[in-house]
Order: sequence, then structure tokens, then C-alpha cells
Amino acid sequence: MATESALQRQDSKIRIESWLARADERSLADNVRKGLTSRVKQLPPKHFYDERGSALFERICDLPEYYLTRAEREILTERAEVIVSATEAGELVELGSGSPDKARLLLDAMFARGALVRYVPVDVSEAALTDAAAELASEYEGLQIHGVVADFERQLDRMPQADGTPRVVALLGSTIGNFPPASRRALLAQIATLLGASDRLLIGADLVKDPAVLEAAYNDSQGVTAEFNRNILYVINRELDGDFDPPAFEHVAFFDPRQEWMEMRLRARRKMTVRIADLGLEVSFARREEVRTEISAKFTRARLRSDLAAAGLEVREWYTDDEERFALAVAGLLG
Ligand SMILES: C[S@@+](CC[C@H](N)C(=O)[O-])C[C@H]1O[C@@H](n2cnc3c(N)ncnc32)[C@H](O)[C@@H]1O
Repeated sequence: MATESALQRQDSKIRIESWLARADERSLADNVRKGLTSRVKQLPPKHFYDERGSALFERICDLPEYYLTRAEREILTERAEVIVSATEAGELVELGSGSPDKARLLLDAMFARGALVRYVPVDVSEAALTDAAAELASEYEGLQIHGVVADFERQLDRMPQADGTPRVVALLGSTIGNFPPASRRALLAQIATLLGASDRLLIGADLVKDPAVLEAAYNDSQGVTAEFNRNILYVINRELDGDFDPPAFEHVAFFDPRQEWMEMRLRARRKMTVRIADLGLEVSFARREEVRTEISAKFTRARLRSDLAAAGLEVREWYTDDEERFALAVAGLLG
């Protein structure tokens, strides 16, 4: 569309398109206005991920308490080859790609079969995406990288067309858990439009388990998750000329057994009024009032199967790590 023209950078192997500039400013403004003026205050987690937020998330992935990344990597290390060879895939489309750590395991398997053609990382974080593209371009001879800086909830129609090479579309890192049930199913239905009959969707999902293990993973002893949580306030200050005092908000993370999800919140340490100049908005916080910043749903096999079925997808394979903490579902179009 003329109003969202693509910014492109092209060299021999890397092409990066950005669809966010104007659309995203609008989305942040809309989300902040709506989220901070509703009765129960909330902000969507995609706004954590500016350059600092992405770097903090990478630190979270290395924390001893945050088993999710290690468990998913363990599954991919063991299964990437079988996943890739079952479909003869030569293209990886990775939604919410972040760091290239796990993509590398799938790309290695495609490369070893002589099938690797293209990698399409998609992320709202331009810094994370360009860093990952540069790293991978130097590692795989002949690999085309077509990065797309976009919001995968709204802009999946901007993805490059499949070129006949079977593709794997991946949504790793438990990102699917950040969506409540209705929008999760809507997102999965959108993702299904990227798949042909022989393509596969790989979903990394954290499994329901002892709440103490879950709560420790989101309340790390070094306080990195707390800083990641508060980063959303720095983003609002910078992008919308806000005057949040981030240290005045305490990090809160707990398991909700009824919903079977982890919730992260920011709790005001004192009564205060925050001004967000670009929105002409004043927001009052009572002492101990909370803003919900993230949910991270935990899955059973049945729960993910029914979410996928609602989106016209079926589970073809289900792999877990040895301790059954995390699952990787391989899905295809129903029928
Ligand atoms: C939980 S992290 C997972 C990162 C990586 N895939 C992994 O497994 O470690 C979520 C990633 O998705 C990106 N992201 C979140 N919401 C997004 C959206 N709506 N559109 C595009 N990217 C998004 C974030 O920038 C971040 O890199």
C-alpha cells in the first residue's frame, strides 16, 4: 500500500523490508491509549522488544531459571533433521525470530541435505533481525535472506510468496503463549494461510508444570526479567514522550491456575500520575495498582491440538525434551 511503502536494503544475499515505521507508531499509540485508560490496565508484550528489550530477552534465555530455551534447543538438536527431511523443506520462515540460535539448527539440517534456499526472519525488532541476518549470511553459502520487519499479527499478508520450495514456518520460544485463546486461534488461522499442502508449521510451546518451576522462570534472581518487564515503560517514554519513572514499578509474575498461564505485571510502588505528551494523556495510578504486560500460556497436548484444529491445522508430530517441560508441535493443514 502506498501509505506503508517498504524500506529495502539489498546486497547480494540479504534483503530487508520494513513495514513498521508509520503503522507501528500508530499501533503503540493505540495500544497505550486503550490499555492505560481501560478499567484493568494492560499493555501488549510486543512493545517490550526495542533494541534493549531484545537484548534483555536474550539474557533471559541464558538464565539458569529460564529452562524454556534450553529445553526447546534440546528438542531441535535431536529432531531438526527428521523434521526437515520429512518435508524436504528448503525455506524457513521464522515468526518472531529474535536471535538466530535455534533457526541455525533447522538451517543446518536443510543445508546438510543440500536443500537450503531461503531464510525469512520476521520480527518487530529491526535491530535483532538485522544482526541475525548478518550473522547467518556469513555462515551459509548461497543462502538468500529475506528479512521482514513487521507485526505478524497484522501484516502476514506482507510475507514473501513461496517460490515452490517446501517451507517450514516456525513460531518458537513459546511466543504462541503470549496470546489469549481467541487471538491465539486467529493468529494460527492467519499463519495457516502461509502454508501449502506439504509445508509444515513448527510451534514451540511451554507445558503445564509445577507452578514453583514456572514462577522461578519469570522471577529470576538476577532481576533481568524485572528489567525486561519495565522496558515497556522506557519504550513509551521514548516513543510517545511519556514521563514514567520505571523504577517506581515493581515486577510481579505469578501463575494463574484457572487460566493455566503465567502473568507478568508492573505494580506501582506509590500513588502517581503519569503524563504521555504525544497522546495528551494523564494516567493516574493508585498505590499497588497493576498493569498487565504479558501472559504466557502453558499448554497440554490437547489444548494445543484444539487451538490448531480451530485454525484448520492438525498436529502431525509432537516432540518433547527429556524432562517433558517443553513441546515442539509439527502441524500441517487439516485433511
Ligand atoms: C518470546 S521472544 C522469542 C524469540 C525467539 N523466537 C526465541 O525462540 O528465542 C518473541 C519474539 O517475537 C517478536 N515479536 C513479538 N510480538 C511480535 C509481533 N506481533 N510481530 C512480530 N514479532 C513479534 C519479539 O520481538 C521477539 O523477538
